[in-house]
Amino acid sequence: KRVAILISGGGSNMVALADSMTGDHPACPVLVLSNDPAAAGLTRAAARGIPTAAVDHRGFRGDRAAFEAELLMPLLAAEPDIVCLAGFMRILTPAFVDRFAGRLLNIHPSLLPKYPGLHTHARAIEAGDAEAGATVHLVTRVLDEGPILGQARVPVQPDDTPETLAARVLTAEHRLYPAVLRRFATGDTTRVDL
Ligand code: GRF
Repeated sequence: KRVAILISGGGSNMVALADSMTGDHPACPVLVLSNDPAAAGLTRAAARGIPTAAVDHRGFRGDRAAFEAELLMPLLAAEPDIVCLAGFMRILTPAFVDRFAGRLLNIHPSLLPKYPGLHTHARAIEAGDAEAGATVHLVTRVLDEGPILGQARVPVQPDDTPETLAARVLTAEHRLYPAVLRRFATGDTTRVDL
């Protein structure tokens, strides 16, 4: 299976996914694509020999459709079977989502359906949750919704700050996303729970 990975920044989840696709793995990374040409993850992808591309979303002044039309050029050229959003921070239009329905994955740093949207760690701490974590789900038209493909749970410590919790969740993301992708690439959509 050909996997394209969309990033916006450091790309630590992209690195975890890319580095997991070795040996007899059923998938291989064919493109790393960013909405920010300066995304550090692009350099990390190139260092792994993965083709990269970038479309600067700031050139489209909020015209999402025009931005996505540009984004689709390198993405379709890569002929992906699976598209993984990994730290991708732009909202995609229903037209884009529909085009990859059933094979567009995202990782979100909360135990969905709790805390869709932003500032998930601060919200979990504020709520006094004993647990937090990450979710990999199929992307649908509604932000941070869609069928859950896997979750990883971590404890919230009493002295946690959003930063310390974020770091613990990120470590769990790096285990969860590769595990979900390996299973999903074989056509198996049963949940991964870590
Ligand atoms: C992190 O906050 C992570 O929890 C979320 O996207 C952000 C950046 O991730 N999934 P990455 O290092 O770019 O993969």
